[in-house]
Amino acid sequence: MRLDKYLTQAGIGTRSQVKEYIRKGLVTVDGRPEKHCDCKIDETLCLVSCQGRPVSFQKMVYYMLNKPAGCVSATRDRREQTVLDLVKDTGRGDLFPVGRLDKDTEGLLLLTNDGLLAHRLLSPGKHVSKQYLAVLSHDLTQEQIAILEQGADIGEAHPARPAVFAWKDREQAQALLTITEGKFHQVKRMFASVGCQVLALKRLSMGTLILDETLAPGQYRPLHSEELEGLLKLTKLEDG
Ligand code: URA
Repeated sequence: MRLDKYLTQAGIGTRSQVKEYIRKGLVTVDGRPEKHCDCKIDETLCLVSCQGRPVSFQKMVYYMLNKPAGCVSATRDRREQTVLDLVKDTGRGDLFPVGRLDKDTEGLLLLTNDGLLAHRLLSPGKHVSKQYLAVLSHDLTQEQIAILEQGADIGEAHPARPAVFAWKDREQAQALLTITEGKFHQVKRMFASVGCQVLALKRLSMGTLILDETLAPGQYRPLHSEELEGLLKLTKLEDG
C-alpha cells in the first residue's frame, strides 16, 4: 500500500496532511525517514512511525443499525442495554455510534471506528441533514408548521435552524421533519414549541445515508460501498 494512503487510513490525518508530514521527514519506515508519499509499504511487516510514534493500522469499519427503542446510544452503560450490545458479533471493540438517538427513538444509527468521518458528520458547522418520522399527539395548523419551517424557539439563545416539514400521513398525524442540527431532544423540543407531543420517533436518514427498511429494529449490516462513498463525498464537499 502507498505510504500516504496507509497513514490516512490509519487515521493520522487527511491525505494532504499526511503528505505534508511525509515531505517534512516526520515519517519513518523501519526506522528510516521516508520522504516519498508513493513509497510502497507492506503494512503487515513494516514498522511505520509518525512524529516518533508508531502508527498502528486500524481498519475502518462502518455499520448501519436500525436502532430499536429501549436501548441507549452509548458505548457502555452499567444498567441499560446499549447499541453496542446489539453488534457484539462484529467482534470489534472499537466501534462507537455517530451521534445519539434518545432511548425511545428508533431508526438509523451509523456505527464506526472512523473518528474523522464521525467528527465531520456531527460538526455543528456542517449542517448535515437528518430526516425523522414523528408520530404526533395531534394535527398541526399551517401556522404551527410555518414556525417549524422558519425556526422554532426551543429555549436556546438562537431559534432552531429552519426545518423541512411534510406530512407522511396527516390522518394518522405522521410527520416527516428534516433538520440540520443535532441538539439534545431537538425534534421533540421543536414539536413541543408548537404545543405538540412526539409519541414515537424514528430517524430515516443522515446526510446521504438512508435507513435500509429491510433491517428489523435491532438488526444491522455493513454499509455498501456506494453508501460509504456518499458520506465521504458529502463530508469532503462540505469541508471545502
Ligand atoms: N430529536 C429528538 O428529540 N430525539 C432524538 O432521538 C433525535 C432527534
